[in-house]
Parts: sequence; C-alpha cells; structure tokens
Amino acid sequence: MSDVLLSVENFSGAFRAADGRLTPVLHDVNFALRTGAITAVVGETGSGKSLTALSILGIQPATFVRTSGRILFEGRDLLTLGATALRAIRGRRISMVFQDARAAMNPVFTVGQQLAEVFRLQHGGSRDAAMAKAIDALRRVSIPEPERRARQYPHEFSGGMAQRAMIAMAALICRPTLLILDEPTTGLDVTIQSEIMELIVELGRSAGLTACLITHDLGVVAETCDAVVVMNAGRVVETGTAEAIFTAPQHAYTRKLLAASLLVPA
Ligand SMILES: Nc1ncnc2c1ncn2[C@@H]1O[C@H](COP(=O)(O)OP(=O)(O)OP(=O)(O)O)[C@@H](O)[C@H]1O
Ligand SMILES: [Mg+2]
Repeated sequence: MSDVLLSVENFSGAFRAADGRLTPVLHDVNFALRTGAITAVVGETGSGKSLTALSILGIQPATFVRTSGRILFEGRDLLTLGATALRAIRGRRISMVFQDARAAMNPVFTVGQQLAEVFRLQHGGSRDAAMAKAIDALRRVSIPEPERRARQYPHEFSGGMAQRAMIAMAALICRPTLLILDEPTTGLDVTIQSEIMELIVELGRSAGLTACLITHDLGVVAETCDAVVVMNAGRVVETGTAEAIFTAPQHAYTRKLLAASLLVPA
C-alpha cells in the first residue's frame, strides 16, 4: 500500500552468546507505519520494543543478529544497507528520541552548539545561521528564554527541558520523515509527561511527521495515537487503530494490558 512509510515484515532476531549459541528474542514481528500517523508500540518490559526500533535505525547491539525478515523503508530493506547508506538515512530521514535525553547529549558542548552542529551537518550553512535555527527550535518546543538556554550545558537543563531539547533536535533540526520515540517521557513527572506528549502530537500534526511512539503508558496512547502495535515476548500479538484496540481488543494479552492500566475493567 502506498500510504505505508515503513514496514517490518517477518522480522526475527536473536542474541549470540560468546559460545555462539543463539537466544531468539524477536519472532516474526510484523507491522506497518502509515504516513502521517502516530503509531504506538506497547508491551511489557522485555517484549522487544526497543530492539525493533534500534534495528530500524541500524543501531542494535552488535550481538543481535537478524534470523529472518526485512524492514522496508521507501522500497529498501534497511537491514541490508551498508554503513554509508544507513548514515544517510539516520537523522535526516529517520531520527530517534531516547528515554534519557541528558545521557544522549554531549556534556562538553552547550545545548545550542549541539543543535547547531547537527543542523550544519545535515543542512550546511554558517555557524551563526545554524545557531539561529537552534534557538528557534528551542523556542518552538516552548523552552523559555531560548537564547540564554542555548548557551547552557545539558546538566543545567531539567529532565523535561532536556527531553524538549532532544525532541527539538530530532523533529525540528533533523526534519526527518519518520520520528521514533522510545519512552520519551519515562522518568519525568506526570504533568511534564503530558506536556511532552502534547508537544509530540502538535509537532506531528504541524510538521506532517510520521511517528512511532514506544510507551508503557496506555492512557497516553488512547489520547494521542492513531494506531497501536501490541508486543508480548518478542511477538506482535495485535495491531489495529487506537479506537479498535481500546474498544474491542481481540487478544487476551491486550485485554490484560488495558486492565492493568485501569483504562478498562478486567
Ligand atoms: N544487549 C543485549 N544482550 C542480550 N539481550 C538483550 C540485550 N538487549 C536486550 N536484550 C533482550 O532482548 C529482549 C527485548 O529487549 P528490548 O530492550 O527490546 O525490550 P523492551 O520491550 O524495549 O523493554 P522495556 O520496556 O523494558 O524497554 C529482552 O528479553 C532483553 O533481555
Ligand atoms: Mg525498551
């Protein structure tokens, strides 16, 4: 279908131990991300959400090996691309926001310098023009006094502010076709979490982004996402529109997740 931006097809993978033995962790994972939609990937800890996302970007652990399947993006299998081709896609076409934003930033450069540097790498231009873009991006994610904040180092940012800065980098500086967010609000307090989610949805709508949101928070999914992929123990157990998943879950595991999140009775 032409409105599918990325599809994960029969993707299986395993970890290779030092003695060469394989421990399978992903089993025939299948789902598609539709252009312009926000798709949630939910499932309990260890279900394979992050590994799937990292594999899309080609940054999976070195000991993880694909045993079958493919990940198609614009007609190409990302799992077969070489380092150069992947670098051209990473950041520019597909970018990712990680759970711990401060850890993902470089502590020795200011936040403004980091955003500006990424802008220059991807779009060129002068240092001053790139810094202006960085400050503008911080402003657009509602960081107060963006000129002053741009001169600060990551450790001077609060957790919520650092997450906003990472979203600014991934969504506004990189301007990707696909934005992947792996638990972008975990560890932040609840009010900040919902503000960050609103920001993601707003950017998604205004910038025409396709987004894949990995989360534990089904409340967030019900409010913000178009489609849902439910994973359990390395398998996709159910996919559907958010409405269908919340009103008529088909799989027992999905019902259990919903009940655990107190959104519906068990
Ligand atoms: N570097 C690694 N070496 C060995 N096993 C790993 C490694 N990383 C992940 N795993 C295993 O792969 C499986 C899937 O892990 P993954 O990180 O994708 O889970 P997840 O769904 O993202 O969980 P969480 O919600 O806790 O982030 C788990 O069983 C995990 O223990
Ligand atoms: Mg994870």
